[in-house]
Amino acid sequence: MSAQPTVVVTRRLPEPVERELSRDFEARLNTNDMPLGPEGLKDALRSADALLCTVTDRLTADVLSTEPRRARMLANFGVGFNHIDTQAAKDRGLAVSNTPDVLTEATADIAITLLLMVSRRTGEGERHVRSGAWTGWRPTHMLGSQVSGKVLGLVGMGRIARAVARRAHHGFGMKVIFHDPYPPSPADAAALGATPRASLDQVLSEADFVSLHCPATPETRHLMNRERLAMMRRNAYLINTARGDVVDEAALVEALADGTIAGAGLDVFEKEPHVSPELIGMENVVLLPHLGSATTETRIAMGMRAVENLRLFFSGAPLRDRVV
Ligand code: 8YV
Repeated sequence: MSAQPTVVVTRRLPEPVERELSRDFEARLNTNDMPLGPEGLKDALRSADALLCTVTDRLTADVLSTEPRRARMLANFGVGFNHIDTQAAKDRGLAVSNTPDVLTEATADIAITLLLMVSRRTGEGERHVRSGAWTGWRPTHMLGSQVSGKVLGLVGMGRIARAVARRAHHGFGMKVIFHDPYPPSPADAAALGATPRASLDQVLSEADFVSLHCPATPETRHLMNRERLAMMRRNAYLINTARGDVVDEAALVEALADGTIAGAGLDVFEKEPHVSPELIGMENVVLLPHLGSATTETRIAMGMRAVENLRLFFSGAPLRDRVV
């Protein structure tokens, strides 16, 4: 019998991560990559010492209350942990870690990708060419909205927002404004060309692009509701690489349909992988399948960070990325 802790890996991970994990742990890999579901997660909690889990695992209070539980730790593969009931984990003495930092640049790249795609109509243009509808260049064809020099409003100013600000300001000469209850120091903000606004509403009313970078919490659920969408400029675009439920998707559909805002670039959705069918039919939206951290380099780095957290936990050392 092995003395190594048993770790259930809930999804397929990049091969170097699975190899690394298997060196120090009795790793139970998910070779067919199917989500475990509530019963599978409960079974894992009863039979393993830890779970290496992802955004597709809903670790609710009900799931975490399964008995007799053997698991003592949840090493989340990802920075966001809104799929884990952290209070329930805390109440039950379960440690939780995440993987910050390593996905900052990749996710900022996707926010900028969405910003450019939606304003320059590149998804629409791609569909146009592929469908064979393109009849040739003309001065008035598929005009988009200029990005350079415009105002970018950041909702939240954490690691990913700062990386977006750096790209937008230094790369595109954008004026960056933000609102965050825990703002960076004035010197840090100035280095990014970013200036704070006292309220979210001010950011919404001034920005040509609003990009969401707050965590999904009960407080931020439907932060972008009908009223706040109406505070945006009619020629403004909404970018979401945070979490789907920060936006009231039904209200967004209305705002896009009636011209309250000009368009949206979305990497995340309220009920993933479900996407409101109305959005799928709209040309003024860009829809990506939660690609924020989806580079080989980043996904390996996320996995290695999760493995490091597991090693620290089982060696009795303080967790580097402790959430709970
Ligand atoms: C991850 C993410 O791929 O880390 C996050 O919070 O949104 C994604 O980039 C996903 O969460 C993996 O679990």
